[in-house]
Amino acid sequence: MLLLRTDPTRPDPSVIRTAAGVLRNGGIVAAPTETVYGLFAHAYREDGCAKVFKAKGRPMDNPLIVHVDTVEMAMAVADIPNDVAEVLRRVWPGPITVVVPSRGVVARCVTAGLPTVAVRAPAHPIPLSIIKELGAPIAGPSANKAGRPSPTTAGHVVEDLDGEVDVVIDGGPTFFGVESTIIDVTKRPPVVLRPGPFTVEELEKLFGPVSVPPVARGLAEADVALAPGMKYRHYAPDTVLVIVHFDLAEAVQTLRARGLKVAVLCATGKCAEANYVIQMGDDLYEVARNLYKSLRDLDKLGVDIGVVPAIEERGVGLAIMNRLRKASGHREALNKEQLLAML
Ligand code: TXA
Ligand code: MG
Repeated sequence: MLLLRTDPTRPDPSVIRTAAGVLRNGGIVAAPTETVYGLFAHAYREDGCAKVFKAKGRPMDNPLIVHVDTVEMAMAVADIPNDVAEVLRRVWPGPITVVVPSRGVVARCVTAGLPTVAVRAPAHPIPLSIIKELGAPIAGPSANKAGRPSPTTAGHVVEDLDGEVDVVIDGGPTFFGVESTIIDVTKRPPVVLRPGPFTVEELEKLFGPVSVPPVARGLAEADVALAPGMKYRHYAPDTVLVIVHFDLAEAVQTLRARGLKVAVLCATGKCAEANYVIQMGDDLYEVARNLYKSLRDLDKLGVDIGVVPAIEERGVGLAIMNRLRKASGHREALNKEQLLAML
């Protein structure tokens, strides 16, 4: 495994050439995007794609996102309606992924054989330069082991995938910290499959009314998955985590009275004294940026339980709550009695 460090704003051309060369030959490369680190293969190569699934330990029926540099490149892999293309010209590059009909040109492994494909242009000079150098799209999921919190630093990637990736590019911590918004525009109205940094409020300005099913809030596991990834447990730390909808200090006292060692993940001014305190941030964007690192740090503290306050489901708060619900295995306590029942 080759670890290459480069400036994220002005990537070193030799690093980009090395990465493109590895991808061209069917290898895999982990690199930052503006959301989280991705684990990439050449989107047309079955062998590279298969390596991504193997390294990540990802079930083969959970498709990857195809990353492009322009709307034109997206149009080569997908059949994009004119009105959607217009919107994409305004919002790309950025943290918004659209599910559109596939032209069937990317490796079958990338779409898991689906008739649709998920596409986005990442707003980050490193992947954009790699795609330009390669002259082809790159396909990938987040660069974590399946089920683990997504990586927001190269260190997280190495923690999960050491020895299983050909190249890791360290371009520093990622900007948003949660994965892109995924919207299925083959449906009327369009369906939000995963909330992200591009908010529902912003989506509705572009697409008109959109549907946000309970599963996109992280509330229920779909029987027949809307996005195939939804049926798997995600983002989970090993430590038990509970989302607290009542007074945080009362929750901590209740747990400590039972002799438990407690860590609190504080957010947007909601905090309490405990054995350990992890500060995630004062505003929602800062909380999003620190979320996955905080979940990884939680596991290093050796506590019995972590508690986190419920976050307001507005703006990027919707994405944060979706991730927290999955990370907690849907443990949400409305009061002390419910909290005790979870132990
Ligand atoms: O920000 C991001 O989206 C990051 C960076 C690396 O781009 N990528 C990412 O990929 O987080 P990940 O691990 O979430 O995997 C891709 C997601 C899965 O939830 C998958 O189910 C969904 O995209 N997906 C891919 N193709 C799909 C399709 N045709 N229909 C519905 N969902 C699809
Ligand atoms: Mg992922």
